[in-house]
Amino acid sequence: MNLGEMLAGKRVLVTGASSGLGENFARLAAGCGAKLVIAARRKERLDALADGLVRLGSPQVSVVAMDVASEASIEEAFAAIDASGEMLDVVVNNAGIGTVSPALATPTRDFDSVMTTNVRGVWLVAVQAARRWKEAGRGGSIINIASIQGERVRPGIAPYSTSKAAVIHMTRSLALEWARYGIRVNAIEPGYIGTEMTEGIGDTEHGRALIDRIPMRRLGTPEELNGLLLLLATEAGSWMTGACVPVDGGHLCASL
Ligand SMILES: NC(=O)c1ccc[n+]([C@@H]2O[C@H](COP(=O)([O-])OP(=O)(O)OC[C@H]3O[C@@H](n4cnc5c(N)ncnc54)[C@H](OP(=O)(O)O)[C@@H]3O)[C@@H](O)[C@H]2O)c1
Repeated sequence: MNLGEMLAGKRVLVTGASSGLGENFARLAAGCGAKLVIAARRKERLDALADGLVRLGSPQVSVVAMDVASEASIEEAFAAIDASGEMLDVVVNNAGIGTVSPALATPTRDFDSVMTTNVRGVWLVAVQAARRWKEAGRGGSIINIASIQGERVRPGIAPYSTSKAAVIHMTRSLALEWARYGIRVNAIEPGYIGTEMTEGIGDTEHGRALIDRIPMRRLGTPEELNGLLLLLATEAGSWMTGACVPVDGGHLCASL
């Protein structure tokens, strides 16, 4: 059985599925025959994605509006998922935002909003899923989308890097606490990948210099995360928990 076949029939929640990496993960899971729940704030984009996936033959795609910056919104979304009567098997905690500005010019509200979305949001979604799995006496797989910025730093994105370092440590902490319940918690640490978040990066001298420092000399594509996502989501990764794995064209081991 290949990794894709192992995901068939599993119920998979992808947060931040309205664009970029989340949309790619949703397409991947749907293509493997997973029962998909896609979540984000821009519901019209989710509806369009769901329509397209159903037309392509996806067995089941549900759309839920979810603002991960709001605990009430997350609770409502999980209540809607519960109402369908079927539990999740996999949670892809992907929703995230970034800000670009020097630390001394960053308004506190920008710091707060990055931490609220990228750290508190990941925490709240993970807890909602894990609480249900524990009560049901069954396990599940949580995959947090961190970043190589959580391992090393560059100027101008301190709140973002801080938030992703927190996600990496949160992944390990939750993996430790929840292993006894059969709940695996792992993280993917993408390098620079072409999405709305990195739009225009190759158009500036600064951006081109950054790409030149990636040992593979190019941005990644969202699809290049798919192999790891499937490994972590399925029984193929049954002894993996607390792993935070870079997928970055070698960027983290770039020469100093
Ligand atoms: N692209 C990269 O190079 C890269 C590298 C490393 C890590 N990442 C991480 O990968 C994840 C996806 O990023 P991306 O590149 O795909 O960026 P993107 O295209 O901007 O997508 C971000 C997604 O997050 C959702 N989102 C943002 N705030 C939200 C909120 N409060 N509640 C619910 N959903 C929210 C957005 O949906 P709505 O606006 O519709 O809510 C959107 O679907 C992020 O966690 C990012 O940090 C990206």
